[in-house]
Amino acid sequence: MCGIVGYVGERSAERVVIDGLRRLEYRGYDSAGVALVHEGTLVGDKKAGKLANLVKALDETPLPETTTGIGHTRWATHGPPTDGNAHPHLGTERRVGVVHNGIIENFAHLRGELEAEGVTMSSDTDTEVAAHLLEREVRGGATLTQAMQAVCRRLEGAFTLVAVDAEDADRVVAARRNSPLVVGVGQGENFLASDVAAFIEHTRDALELGQDQVVTITAEGVEVTDFDGVAVEPTAFHVDWDLSAAEKDGFDWFMRKEIFEQPRAIADSLLGRHDEAGRLQLDELRMSVEDLRSVDKIIITACGTAFYAGLVAKYAIEHWTRIPCEVELAHEFRYRDPILTRDTLVVAISQSGETADTLMAIRHAREQHSKVLAICNTNGATIPRESDAVIYTHAGPEIGVASTKGFMTQLIACYLLGLYLAQVRGTKYAEEIRDVVEELAQMPDRVATMLERCDEVYELARELEDAGSVLFLGRHAGFPVALEGALKLKELAYIHAEGFAAGELKHGPIALIEKDLPVFCVIPPRGRDFLHDKMLSGIQEVRARGARTIVVVEEGDDTVVPYADTIIRIPVSSTLLQPLAAVVPLQLFACELATVKGHDVDQPRNLAKSVTVE
Ligand code: G6P
Repeated sequence: MCGIVGYVGERSAERVVIDGLRRLEYRGYDSAGVALVHEGTLVGDKKAGKLANLVKALDETPLPETTTGIGHTRWATHGPPTDGNAHPHLGTERRVGVVHNGIIENFAHLRGELEAEGVTMSSDTDTEVAAHLLEREVRGGATLTQAMQAVCRRLEGAFTLVAVDAEDADRVVAARRNSPLVVGVGQGENFLASDVAAFIEHTRDALELGQDQVVTITAEGVEVTDFDGVAVEPTAFHVDWDLSAAEKDGFDWFMRKEIFEQPRAIADSLLGRHDEAGRLQLDELRMSVEDLRSVDKIIITACGTAFYAGLVAKYAIEHWTRIPCEVELAHEFRYRDPILTRDTLVVAISQSGETADTLMAIRHAREQHSKVLAICNTNGATIPRESDAVIYTHAGPEIGVASTKGFMTQLIACYLLGLYLAQVRGTKYAEEIRDVVEELAQMPDRVATMLERCDEVYELARELEDAGSVLFLGRHAGFPVALEGALKLKELAYIHAEGFAAGELKHGPIALIEKDLPVFCVIPPRGRDFLHDKMLSGIQEVRARGARTIVVVEEGDDTVVPYADTIIRIPVSSTLLQPLAAVVPLQLFACELATVKGHDVDQPRNLAKSVTVE
């Protein structure tokens, strides 16, 4: 939430910063701005709305060429998205400019202090206090680095700050607490950004920063200290994907491209994690077999789509391991005083690894001495760094705000975890585990089959362009799939959509059914207890009341034909793995419906990909 870029080097800072912001726009797109250091002054511009508005303004009124600058793309928290509230914010003398991601919780107190000194605020933001405080320090003789250290010692909350000083064109200084920031290390140039996508076209060498650190970049080097100025050694890492992974590759939307990348993402996430005999190898987990054996309860915590991955995981993990597994929205978790012990394993699922609600949940769990395992797609992000163990999903960068391949690979990681626990604890025979591993290995092909059928789904989306409401029904592991299908539609098409457990229908939601209401029904595989037949009864109930039924059902299952207005076939899979295939048409449907409605699929209104505020 909010994208931040800083640059110092030999190139046009404006170009580097704007290109970087373009790749970070998924983090927020309410307004954008830049500030460049030019001959002892700060020059720049900022505009409400998407980055395109800023780019247009800069084309009309170009800024001078400079080689040091900062930029920001915003997801508003304090103050509406206006030109005035857009970042960067400047001190009174326009000497220091700063951009910010996060929330400065004690800003009201600091603002009062500054106003008492005669400072007039020109925005509604919490950020502006940081600009004035930094400027006060540099005017008193501090370097920008010292100023940042001193100011950060006074700030409370979550923040990444990146600042420039008009009188010191050689450096850009940043700080982080509970909010993401990485350094890109170039030759004769260096970069700061919320995520590596911003500088990946220039360098794949990066540095991770810890909590409460200040970093100074110049063209020649990078220095990191804590807030007291004590030098710290940052951790270097190499980014293993390149620019092409962050480009659209001929697709109209990143989201559509990412849906189509799912077969590869699944295969990459399985790679190296089992041997030929189907034995799981999760050496990267960093948790001892003894610790895994002593787990007596699992709590999965996450938000949004990741939460739905957790709901699917519960069915698999409990079935395979017999360990009780709860799934809890991260923002509710710590407030209900959950029962956590040393033998509780808390699993945090987060694509970005930066979701503040999830981060706070794992901190609470660790304070109670529970073990925390992260399932994450972003190397070096805060959640995996603060966890005892991590399973990285290998989805590659996910840019579309609505998660697709992120979700798919979270499911894979959850299955791997469940199977690994079953292996370590001996709750499943080796052959049973091998059978599931073999089926997982077939999932890239099954998902590819679903993608080949995209045209039928697109056609359906075009037919339903004017639907005002869509329902999704599922049972067992198909229930979270229904929830995810509805969430995708809400996020992208902005229409009323709800997912229900099909059995719950008769207890209330059935009152919503009216003539021609589209209802997606995710049918469990045949032969799973009575589930399949019960689901058929559910479809008949809605159809009898005039609903238009769209049935997602495995190949060869013709029992549904009499009750289906539209049939979407999925490859035959076991009940627990069926979500991997069943979710694909729902993703494609939401993407296409939003496209025909003329919405921005990659940047849906009011959302941000990585929500770094609570
Ligand atoms: C936001 C996004 C969702 C995402 C959720 C969790 O709400 O809009 O698409 O599922 O955050 O994100 P995470 O990075 O923690 O998986």
